[in-house]
Parts: sequence; structure tokens; C-alpha cells
Amino acid sequence: MTILIEQPCLETQSEERNVYGEETNEFVLDGGFPLPQLSQDGFHAPDINSFGKAFRNYDAETERQKSVEEFYKKQHINQTYEFVKRMREEYAKFDKTEMGIWECCELLNEVVDDSDPDLDEPQIQHLLQSAEAIRKDYPNEDWLHLTALIHDLGKILLLPSFGELPQWAVVGDTFPLGCAFDESNVHLKYFKENADYNNPAYNTKNGIYPNGVGLDNVMMSFGHDDYMYMVAQENKCTLPSAALFIIRYHSFYPLHKEGAYTHLMNEEDVENFKWLKIFNKYDLYSKSKVRVDVEEVKPYYMSLIEKYFPAKLRW
Ligand SMILES: [Fe+2]
Ligand SMILES: [Fe+2]
Repeated sequence: MTILIEQPCLETQSEERNVYGEETNEFVLDGGFPLPQLSQDGFHAPDINSFGKAFRNYDAETERQKSVEEFYKKQHINQTYEFVKRMREEYAKFDKTEMGIWECCELLNEVVDDSDPDLDEPQIQHLLQSAEAIRKDYPNEDWLHLTALIHDLGKILLLPSFGELPQWAVVGDTFPLGCAFDESNVHLKYFKENADYNNPAYNTKNGIYPNGVGLDNVMMSFGHDDYMYMVAQENKCTLPSAALFIIRYHSFYPLHKEGAYTHLMNEEDVENFKWLKIFNKYDLYSKSKVRVDVEEVKPYYMSLIEKYFPAKLRW
């Protein structure tokens, strides 16, 4: 999940450029977590807290950063090639439940995502706000509206009936397994404790993959992105490949931000990546957001669900 939070006016504020090289006064938070900003002399803490509030609370911010680091430590140690293989096998059974897409949107409201800075907002609001914002700017791309609505549904993995996976196996930035960890990954040092780090089959730039292998042939760290991609494929959704690309790689920050791992992409990936860059601008939280009237927009999204998905999906 990309989170963009409007940066409040502070004396120390300087002009920021976003990942697309455009000027922005928004603050990009990483994988749902606030990250220290890189300055010329190294990292320094942001002047806002994780909720984007203008007041400064250094203790709370330090605590927040500590828990983010703790999160990435667990994620980087435990997300090994073997772990992802096991998870993919388990969730490829699709034996957890049968339900429709809208039902899942409502179920997601029960999920508490620790990385979510908007804990007071029901999750369905994030889905609908992203979808409605895209719909306004790209009225003819109905598939993109639906993609925004479903992109985070995989977070149901946090619920008891879906395995109640720990946060590190569901959210946060994602990265490929089976090849070396690129240095653009956040909190890189914790990969040293990952069992794959010293495995000669996995620790070269290409690892087990030939150049241009195509990202759908690459094992990605497991989480809500990969799970929803698997669900969409299994249930024969008719969304275009750009939609599946967005769903699977929307937390793949080393690629979005740094252009890392592009040697694994094929031509189709390069095309689809253009849509992911557009989507990422809308996968946001903003203080200026307006609450979407769920009942009012529901008929439109139901019509899209009917167009692109079966009535019931296997999860
Ligand atoms: Fe997400
Ligand atoms: Fe999201």
C-alpha cells in the first residue's frame, strides 16, 4: 500500500519530488509505514507523525519508527524462498471460503492493519476513495476502477478464518526471492539473517532467473498482493493483465521507487508498469479526503464486479 499524506506547512519544509520526478507537497510513506526522509547528510526523522498531523511528537515518532524497523526485521528474516513456496501451496488450495467480491470488501472492514495510519477509517473507505478518485480522472477505464476497489482485499489473510497470518506475512513492501536482495530494499541489513542470503543459488543478481524472465515467473515475498493475484487468476476474472500486474506489484517499492529488478521484466511488464505508476498516485490517504457514500456508489461497483468476476469466488 502506498500512502501519500499531505505534508503540513512547516518552516523546515522543502520541496519534494515524487517518484515520478514531479514536484509534490505530499509525503510518501512506504508500504503503509512512515519512512525517514533521506537528506544529504543521511537519514532524519520526518517532522510529522505517522498520522500526518502537524504537531510534533518526537517520542511517538521514535516509537513508530522502532516498530516499523521491528516489522521489517521480522519480514526480512522470515520471508524466504521456502516460506513463500509453502504459503503459495497452502493458499492455492482455495479452501478457506466461497464469497463474492463485495462480500469480501465488507469483510475487510473487520481487519485491523497495524500499518494503516487511518485506523479510524473503515478499510472499505480506502478502497472506495482510491477507486472514486481514479474514476474521476480516468472515466473510461472501468477495469482500473475495479482494480482499485479490490487491490487490498488480500488483507483478509489477517483474519482467523484465513489463517490469521502475522503482519509481516501480509503487509509491507514486497521483493523478489530466488535472487539477491537489491540494496534499495528498506532495512536491508536484516536480510543478512535470511536463510537465502548465503545460498549461492539465490544470492547473485539474477539468481534462478534469466534476464527478462517476466515478473509473473518471479517468486515475490508473500502477502496481500500475491494472495489477491492468485485469487483473481484462480477464479478466471476477465480483468486485463495490467490489472493483475497492479494487484501483484502495488507494494513492490524497490521497483516503483528505485527501478530495481527491471532486468527481470519482459515487454508486457514494461507496458503494464505504466498503469501501476498511475495507480500508485491514487493508492493514498489524504487529509483532504471525503468520505464516500457506500450505498450511493455500490450499484456502479456491483456492475463492474458482475462484468469481470463470477458471483462467487473461491478463496
Ligand atoms: Fe496494499
Ligand atoms: Fe492500498
